[in-house]
Amino acid sequence: MHTYTLAVVPGDGIGKEVTPVALAALRKACDGVAQFRCEQFDLGAERYLRDGAILPDDELARIDQADAILLGAIGDPRVKAGVLERGLLLKLRFSLDQYVNLRPSKLYRGVVSPLREPGDIDFVVVREGTEGLYCGVGGAVRRGTAQEVATEVSVNTAYGVERVVRYAFDLAMRRSRHITLVHKKNVLVNAGDMWQRIVDRVGEEYPAVTHDYLHIDAATIFMVSNPSRFDVILTDNLFGDILTDEAGEVVGGVGYSASGCINASGEHPSMFEPIHGSAPDIAGQGIANPTASVLSAAMLLRHLGLDEPADRIDAAVEADIEQSGSRSRGTEEIGRDILARL
Ligand code: IPM
Ligand code: MN
Repeated sequence: MHTYTLAVVPGDGIGKEVTPVALAALRKACDGVAQFRCEQFDLGAERYLRDGAILPDDELARIDQADAILLGAIGDPRVKAGVLERGLLLKLRFSLDQYVNLRPSKLYRGVVSPLREPGDIDFVVVREGTEGLYCGVGGAVRRGTAQEVATEVSVNTAYGVERVVRYAFDLAMRRSRHITLVHKKNVLVNAGDMWQRIVDRVGEEYPAVTHDYLHIDAATIFMVSNPSRFDVILTDNLFGDILTDEAGEVVGGVGYSASGCINASGEHPSMFEPIHGSAPDIAGQGIANPTASVLSAAMLLRHLGLDEPADRIDAAVEADIEQSGSRSRGTEEIGRDILARL
């Protein structure tokens, strides 16, 4: 039996509560199939407030040795916005070259969508993960004065765009063979034009896959007016961030939304995390829904090639939601119910 090494970063708030549930589901689903050696990393707000460390180099190097990473959530109101986001979460994504941010949205039976007629929703957003406005290029001059100028530059490279575009086409081949490119090429003429040209060019190698285009503002409308029109949405880092929060809400709240930060070249480990944040308002009460974290563990298994246990988790979650999704349950109870189905 193969033993995989997992780097586990529970992080802050409800991340600490949902991650153990996800790990328990992962282990149970893999019983007799694979083993896991988990190394826990104490990273996040508590650690930062205690000793000032955000992501020390030696810990990043150890995380880089793992087969995959399971992350809970990062963020704490006591820490200035941006410190942990940039210094920990984005540093992991960028250092480990996780250039595909994969975010599926599926409306499970038993989940109440805020849409009156949601239809059949099952799409995945392929969000670029290492470029765009997240690069950290830019600056502020004359800060705090009336002449202050602040800039953030969106960096898009042909190399970076092409690799995520190829990933989306490969994914589309395994789904319903249609991609919607989302950008804002009527205003962001440089980057938007490049994205479109690369999609057109790569698309010629995939004659079986059709593609169309939507401006981001129009895409946010279709996301609520006709979300079942989507299958694979391909977009840049910031548009993908915004669109996947909206997508999560449309399928019943981010409590059901998993994601993967994928290094598809396999040179570095990929990282799996729920889309939701650390939710400090409900942290410590044992009421956080661990479903998104459990589904992230299933994505992790699939990434490692453990498709069968991943399918088992997906099926267990689907059945759990259908039977008890609308009942109010605590973190532990939901975890027990899902585990009982594995
Ligand atoms: C997400 C989060 C992060 C992002 C933040 C916390 C840096 O919103 O994973 O969607 O913007 O990517
Ligand atoms: Mn986000």
